[in-house]
Parts: sequence; C-alpha cells; structure tokens
Amino acid sequence: MRLSEEKIAAFEEQGYLFLPECFSEEEVSVLRDAAVALFQTEREEVWREDNGAPRTAFAAHTYDDAFGVLGAHPRLVEPVQQLFGEPVYMHQFKVNAKAAFDGAVWQWHQDYGTWARDDSMPEPRAMNIAVFLDEVMAINGPLMFIPKSHKAGTLEAAHDTRTTSYPLWTLDNDTVSRLAAEGGIVAPTGPAGSVVMFHGNLVHASPPNITPYPRKIVYLTLSAVSNHITKFTRAAWIAHRDFTPIEPVADSALMDFAREYRKAG
Ligand code: SIN
Ligand code: MN
Repeated sequence: MRLSEEKIAAFEEQGYLFLPECFSEEEVSVLRDAAVALFQTEREEVWREDNGAPRTAFAAHTYDDAFGVLGAHPRLVEPVQQLFGEPVYMHQFKVNAKAAFDGAVWQWHQDYGTWARDDSMPEPRAMNIAVFLDEVMAINGPLMFIPKSHKAGTLEAAHDTRTTSYPLWTLDNDTVSRLAAEGGIVAPTGPAGSVVMFHGNLVHASPPNITPYPRKIVYLTLSAVSNHITKFTRAAWIAHRDFTPIEPVADSALMDFAREYRKAG
C-alpha cells in the first residue's frame, strides 16, 4: 500500500495519519481472539496493571502466528518504507489491553523520548502504527494526540516509575498545556480495523477506561534499518535487537490466515 502525496503532506503537518477501516472485521477478529487468549497467559512479556488487569503484551509477533502475519503486513510496512525511503525493522511490538473498567492511564509522553534515552536510537526515524482491535470510542480510553507537537523536537521528560506499572518518560503539565494551546487535542475514534500512524515525537496519552467496553490496540514500531538502536539496556523483547529488514507478506495473508483459523474451528 502506498500513501498519496496528499496523505504524506498531512502526516508531515499534523504528525499523524488516521486510516479508518484499513482491515476488515474478518481480518481483525482473528487478532482480537489472539489478544484475548494471550492476555490470559502468564509470561514475562505480558505486563499487568497494578490492579492485576492486563496492560500490555510485548513481542507477540514472535510467539503468536496471527500477530506474526500482522507484523509483516504490507498495509503497515510499505507506507513506512515509503516515508523513510529504506527497509524497516521491528523495534517494538505490543498489544495494549486498556481493559474494561480496569485499564489505566498512559501519561503524556513522546515515544522517541524513550527510544533515545533508553535505547540510544539515533533519530526519530521510527514510526508507531496503531491497529484498533476493538472499536475505539470517546469513552473507552482512546489515544489522544497533540497535533503538530512532533515539530517541537524531543522534549525534556522525567522518568515516571510510579503512576502505573510501566515506567515512562513523561512530560510536565506546563509543556502539555503550551503545546495543546497551539495544536489542540484530538482523539481519533473508529471501528476495529482502523489504523493510526504517528510520528515518534508526537505527544500522546490515553485516559483510563472505566466503561464495560475493552479497547485493545496493537502497536508496531517500525524503524528505518539504518536508524537501529545502539544501547541494549531493555529486555530484547521490549527493544528488539534483530535489525533484519521486514519482508512484507502478501496483502491477502491475514485474510488467508483468518479463513484457515476459522476452518480449524
Ligand atoms: C502508548 O502510548 O504507547 C500506549 C497508549 C495506549 O495504548 O493507550
Ligand atoms: Mn506511546
């Protein structure tokens, strides 16, 4: 899949691109089932909220076949190759649960802030791609972005190890207020199968989910291969050390997988 000039210009200006219904319900339902199953497992890659609810499952593309297909899907990989003009590798892969009633906040942050400080990634030439596994609504803890904030560069941040079970380099309220006064705050909503691509320096967060509606989202972080990390302080299943260029699978691969999965019953 290639992005039009118009879409590239919008991405460069706003720092994100929302692509509603990029995957069909048939494709996405197999991923949703896989996510529910893996959140029931006990393994070191699956992190829980302080209240015990699932928060995030790292590196699922390496131990789950459905997520393996998604991790090489051309609708996700090709636009990033196009933007960076070179092959990409998987820097991080995670499924975030934002569980019904219990899903906790993600504080205001920039992802490149973490990749630079913790992993020594040379430049913000890595892209986050969010794939909605459930409908994301205004009420169930949607991702919130400050449009254009990627133009502010990498901002000062503090390492917050207390607010949630997951340590994060977070921004202070004054910085968020200043950026929001310029760019506002948006929260793209849409059905399962929708996709958001966002710049590594785009400021984002998400509120807790106190509704009965889960809000699962998969995130691929695709980095230009020449921009690979150089410091290996985090677990290899959080910040990957395999810089092999991703070979995209066929566009029908997830649909084919879903049909086989349903047949096997
Ligand atoms: C993130 O910012 O990395 C995750 C946010 C979310 O899933 O709500
Ligand atoms: Mn983030």
